[in-house]
Amino acid sequence: MQRRKLGASGPEVSALGLGCMGMSEFYGESDDASSLRTLARALELGMTLFDTADTYGLGHNETLVGRFIAEGGTARRRQVVVATKFGIVRAAGQYERRIDNSPAYIRDACEASLRRLGVERIDLYYCHRRNPDVPIEDVAGALGELVAAGKVGAIGLSEVSVETLRRAHAVHPVAAVQSEYSLWSREPETGMLAACAELGTAFVAYSPLGRAFLTGTLEVDALADNDFRKHNPRFSGDAQAHNRRLVDQLSRFAQARGLSSAQVALAWLLHKQPHVIPIPGSRRIPHLESNARAADVLLDAGAMAELDHLFTPDSVAGARYPDAGFVGIET
Ligand SMILES: NC(=O)c1ccc[n+]([C@@H]2O[C@H](COP(=O)([O-])OP(=O)(O)OC[C@H]3O[C@@H](n4cnc5c(N)ncnc54)[C@H](OP(=O)(O)O)[C@@H]3O)[C@@H](O)[C@H]2O)c1
Repeated sequence: MQRRKLGASGPEVSALGLGCMGMSEFYGESDDASSLRTLARALELGMTLFDTADTYGLGHNETLVGRFIAEGGTARRRQVVVATKFGIVRAAGQYERRIDNSPAYIRDACEASLRRLGVERIDLYYCHRRNPDVPIEDVAGALGELVAAGKVGAIGLSEVSVETLRRAHAVHPVAAVQSEYSLWSREPETGMLAACAELGTAFVAYSPLGRAFLTGTLEVDALADNDFRKHNPRFSGDAQAHNRRLVDQLSRFAQARGLSSAQVALAWLLHKQPHVIPIPGSRRIPHLESNARAADVLLDAGAMAELDHLFTPDSVAGARYPDAGFVGIET
């Protein structure tokens, strides 16, 4: 698989990473044995960037990724670039959260993530959400100390504004910004992509498949009650019906080229900028294998323009999160 730089001084990683969140929470049932097989297949396919967070399954996801790394011994540890995040504090079973960015919390969270992952160093450590009561300079300073101590390889920020990125970068180089970016979530195009290019910061695109909606295969009515998407405005009522019509057009676009909608959605991101690294989430090997082939798909300028036009920011109905999900999001 083609590779991309994780920031100006960071390691090279696969152009497509693997989002591990759904293996623990938010998108219905999962089972660890099957998830471990998917993780191993991802590595075989050349995917080297594995994305997790302490909040996914309240530690379960990091423990799972840690088990995957441990089962492959030192050879696997050398291949895997593990990215995790801190800052979202939730009670078990609760979606509502508070955000903690205090330096003491960051140091404790880092130790807990290192333990669960079973590694000596987190390759990329993100601030998952911002608490504006703590200056970003203090957050970047605490992260820089973890880098100096050898506990963290590179630092990242998630869902921050361009101003926050610039202020943090002035304290310590920010290797990656991670925010939602896909055909139907275009906010990063209003300044963040350009700022990242200027600073030599990678842009990691999360939920690149619109949480499966863009694949055209999601049956929203069949989702379990505890599936986060049931409460996401874009998946509900009139907004869902409206968005479904866009996705139908995407399906026709993909079919005409012998591709899946997911492959088109991922290829579109890879063509946007050379510093964009999408991290599609998948628990299933067939999805993973099909998605990996998106790294070889070529879209010409006309195809890109057609897709840009189909999913203009104004053409999508509904907010990308319910109200509680916007806590700590600056963008
Ligand atoms: N920084 C943040 O705040 C933040 C927020 C959300 C997510 N993330 C990260 O980003 C990663 C990816 O985002 P995401 O998981 O939310 O959304 P996503 O990648 O847009 O979509 C994942 C969903 O798409 C399905 N899928 C994948 N490939 C498919 C295919 N070829 N055909 C049909 N369905 C397919 C998956 O199903 P299966 O699992 O059944 O394969 C899963 O339900 C997460 O895993 C997480 O690591 C970060």
